[in-house]
Amino acid sequence: MRMDRWAGKSAIVTGVSSGIGEVITEKLVRAGVNVLGLARREDKLQALAQRFKSAKGKFCYLKCDLRNEQDILKAFAWVEKNFGCIDILINNAGVLFLNSFEDAKTDEYHILMDLNVIAPAICIREALKLMRKHKNEGHIININSIAGHQAVIGNMPVNLYPASKFALRAMTETLKGEIRAKNDKIRITGIHPGVVKTDLYHTLSEATTDMIYNTMSFLESKDVADCVMFALSMPSNVQIDELTVSPVMYKNES
Ligand SMILES: NC(=O)c1ccc[n+]([C@@H]2O[C@H](COP(=O)([O-])OP(=O)(O)OC[C@H]3O[C@@H](n4cnc5c(N)ncnc54)[C@H](OP(=O)(O)O)[C@@H]3O)[C@@H](O)[C@H]2O)c1
Repeated sequence: MRMDRWAGKSAIVTGVSSGIGEVITEKLVRAGVNVLGLARREDKLQALAQRFKSAKGKFCYLKCDLRNEQDILKAFAWVEKNFGCIDILINNAGVLFLNSFEDAKTDEYHILMDLNVIAPAICIREALKLMRKHKNEGHIININSIAGHQAVIGNMPVNLYPASKFALRAMTETLKGEIRAKNDKIRITGIHPGVVKTDLYHTLSEATTDMIYNTMSFLESKDVADCVMFALSMPSNVQIDELTVSPVMYKNES
């Protein structure tokens, strides 16, 4: 895949401390992209900095709570000061609380909407300002979910999660229209994976997570990161609008 033109360019990736964001970051820094990674768990961020210290691209991080706008603004100011501009934004951080509507907590609704909808919107606004100011070619990738297309995910009690991902998909489409109207050299991609084996389900008991992974087919973080690299590696005149990625489980024929 042709990632050469992104070497030496800079990216912000949200939610790099585990799962999909961690693997996307690894692929970007190994391809020579300078990445500012954002997440809250500093021990994990430090471990990544250690792991990527001899990668082709630089890996820097900021401890950032994406529910706090000031933390996000600091990250964008940091990237302009230290990397000069931003070329790629990967809105990856997200959260899921598995509860039926009857059991769901209001606090969890606020966390979910803040992280899955409001934080990507703020990051997009700040990225657009920098991309336009520096007139560079940009790419914004929103990590969505099959829940951005279907509100029922098997028997999982996903309450507002699909609503948040439908909102993220609508935001991706609206933004595409806005960018087309302004004739900017910025591309937008939405990536919609099925179930991926990550820490997203960490609030569940071990027995429930085992049940999910034993009864459902799932993707690995690498599969989603490969989709990100595929979208980025397209020539400037090609925008991958959306990728829906499903796991395939082959039945044992014997
Ligand atoms: N796993 C799946 O089945 C699946 C399927 C489809 C789509 N997705 C989407 O993929 C994306 C990544 O999820 P994942 O599966 O890789 O889950 P994950 O391993 O739990 O990763 C979530 C990331 O978000 C970060 N995060 C959570 N709250 C944050 C906050 N307030 N501020 C800053 N960072 C925060 C976490 O870091 P800290 O805790 O260190 O802050 C972590 O790095 C999400 O948008 C999710 O909706 C996942």
